[in-house]
Amino acid sequence: MDLPFEPYRIKVVEKIRRTSPQERAQLLELAGYNVFKVPSTAVYVDLLTDSGTSAMSDLQWAALMTGDEAYAQSRSFSDFEATIRDIFGYRHVIPTHQGRAAEGLLFATAVKPGQVVPNNIHFDTTRANVEHVGAIALDCVADAGLDPVLEAPFKGDMSLEKLAAAFAKYGRERIPFVMLTITNNSGGGQPVSLANMRAVSAFCREQRVPLIFDACRFAENAWFIQQREAGCRDKSIHEICREMFALGHGCTMSAKKDALVNIGGFLCLDDDAMAQAATNLLILREGFPTYGGLAGRDLAAVAQGLREVLDEDYLAYRIGQVARLGARLDELGVPFLRPTGGHAVYLDARRMLPHVPQREFPAQVVTAALYRTAGVRAVEIGSLMFEHKDPDTGKPVPPAMELVRLAVPRRVYTHTQLDFVADACARVMELGPRLRGLEITWEPPSLRHFTATLRPVGGGPFLADA
Ligand code: F0G
Repeated sequence: MDLPFEPYRIKVVEKIRRTSPQERAQLLELAGYNVFKVPSTAVYVDLLTDSGTSAMSDLQWAALMTGDEAYAQSRSFSDFEATIRDIFGYRHVIPTHQGRAAEGLLFATAVKPGQVVPNNIHFDTTRANVEHVGAIALDCVADAGLDPVLEAPFKGDMSLEKLAAAFAKYGRERIPFVMLTITNNSGGGQPVSLANMRAVSAFCREQRVPLIFDACRFAENAWFIQQREAGCRDKSIHEICREMFALGHGCTMSAKKDALVNIGGFLCLDDDAMAQAATNLLILREGFPTYGGLAGRDLAAVAQGLREVLDEDYLAYRIGQVARLGARLDELGVPFLRPTGGHAVYLDARRMLPHVPQREFPAQVVTAALYRTAGVRAVEIGSLMFEHKDPDTGKPVPPAMELVRLAVPRRVYTHTQLDFVADACARVMELGPRLRGLEITWEPPSLRHFTATLRPVGGGPFLADA
């Protein structure tokens, strides 16, 4: 595969440190086999997340210097609002400090206990925010999106049948709105097609419920539409974005992804009453409506990042880099969810380590082993993150897939560093049955993957001698 061409040159660099296998083994044990607890200074290539980890451009850094810190009606807010309206097209723009704050405002004001929020697949914080208000988070992704082997262009699409079944089961009055996550992070960073958005939008209109986008990776989704969907090749990314968002009534956004900043987010809504309720809570929790928990300079950097992310050279490079990591893994025989997503490659832990049963967290075993073997930090997207209780029976329901996400920060790592990561994955696979399963020694009541501690099943070493 050709090397995707970087449409920029490097102006600032940050040193990283290599560690020894002994140091990493010790740190991993101390961290309770949870890489969220490993110090970043002991991580060589950090693919834990693409969130808040982007390298900002010279123009974004310049925007930080010229940000307007006025408490009310700052120039930076006007730029932020105008840029967002231009891309997303919604009437109300509510700044928040990150995506989950936007979710929190929306769910606290528009969702009542016992209600149901369908989504293609809720991200972990989205699910937790829905459940926090006593509502049910329902995943309705089409079955193709749950098949890690199938090669299909739009595996983030929602199943209209599952959506209709949800309306039939719960009734329209229990469903305050429908969400679509673009791209579908928990299902492999897979895009949603414009055709599916149109179909979901038409269904929602018929049912008279709003459609809200979780727009974190909207530009990457738009790029996939441009490249893969019939009749879209000649449309600009900007045009596709306008077309997508016109199908909905608002969005939640973590600017830490496709706005190319280290902190920030927003909630957009068309409906005046919904926006007013969210704004009232914003003032209580986040800040005045023209800064919402951010500094003026942060708003300015978001506006600049949103203009940059629409650049097709950037998107071709960005998504090409992720695809190339997948191509390298293929050459090495490492199984991953197909095709590669916009922001990440998702390793298929069950096929990498078939000897580890699902109850022993195979994806967490791969994650821990990647760190131990090579200092590469990934994130588990499997039972540790997503096992949940069945709302009817209360029984634990394991997720359909056991994935390990290699999330590629934007504009940060080189092809050489990602080749190193691919080799590390192959080395982990070669360890095979020498790697022990894991068991939980402590967990919090929700979002356990962030802070839970684990140990090799029954104690003893994580990696058996050869
Ligand atoms: N929605 C999606 C689809 C996300 O991926 C995230 C964050 C959020 C909402 C919440 O945004 O972090 O700004 O509060 N995802 C990060 C990740 C954390 O690693 O995928 P936030």
